[in-house]
Amino acid sequence: MTRELVGRNLLSLVDYSGEEIRSILELGFKLKHKQKEGQPHNFLEGRTLAMIFQKSSTRTRLSFEVGMEQLGGRGLFLSVGDLQMGRGEPVKDTARTLSRYVDGIMIRTFDQEEVEELARYASVPVINGLTDRFHPCQALADLMSVWEKCGELAPERKVVYLGDGNNVAHSLMLGCSKLGLQLRVAHPPGYAPDGDIVELARREARSSGGELVLMEDPEQAVKGCEVVYTDVWTSMGQESEKEEKRKHFAPYQLNRALLDKAEPGAVVMHCLPAHRGEEITDQVIESEQSVVFDQAENRLHAQKALLSMLIK
Ligand code: CP
Ligand code: NVA
Repeated sequence: MTRELVGRNLLSLVDYSGEEIRSILELGFKLKHKQKEGQPHNFLEGRTLAMIFQKSSTRTRLSFEVGMEQLGGRGLFLSVGDLQMGRGEPVKDTARTLSRYVDGIMIRTFDQEEVEELARYASVPVINGLTDRFHPCQALADLMSVWEKCGELAPERKVVYLGDGNNVAHSLMLGCSKLGLQLRVAHPPGYAPDGDIVELARREARSSGGELVLMEDPEQAVKGCEVVYTDVWTSMGQESEKEEKRKHFAPYQLNRALLDKAEPGAVVMHCLPAHRGEEITDQVIESEQSVVFDQAENRLHAQKALLSMLIK
């Protein structure tokens, strides 16, 4: 196993090259195989990962906790409300204290800057488990799933993301652009992904042979795509915008009629949790084209690879 990434943080995919992302995914596939075959892979014997949560989680918490266990280490669930951080202890003090006890820190919070500050003061790798701006671990599992379901990550892979230009879209854009895929993002007017990330992803796509196109017409966007991806319209922390957003996002719902305009047999992806009847219909998420639970499983394998490569 390559140890080139030892000691690195994963704050977003911005600082990772396509080659580095690919090496994480390749190890992810090897670890998936080992786990299925019952072969030992306790690369992190005796190591501990602190897992700080300021927002709810099912997949991220479970996949990191179980992943550490399968690697021979342990994950410690730390709710911000139970930490002194929740009573105002500075992030920089939390970072330095935790670094004396654990071998890595995963954090899910609102503000990307908080994760960056934690990383500046921590002396162990810091992993972003979702902020309002990025969800890099999700993108690793997403790319692994596209590879697994559709084949080699290359320019012939056409992916469409429907909906909000949010954290999941941002990380998917960076991941697809760095690996040279063709990605379309179809969003309602006013809900485009952040311009600086679009620009960065476009630059990456130019050098990898991929392409990033922003569109507002969902029917045009899904045409010819073999992967159709969506995420919730209202992310955690934006609950007050829910009703307003529903009006703007209705045409972007991934339903049978829209899916039928994509490539025949296109795979349906969603990072979950899903809001059936909003961004996706029950019929589509339960259809044979849906790979959402394989995608959720790949969170485990991709993150085990990431942990094995980052933690000393
Ligand atoms: N996809 C994802 O991050 O799920 P959780 O919010 O359950 O962790
Ligand atoms: N965009 C969603 C992703 C949840 C995994 C959110 O931030 O709530």
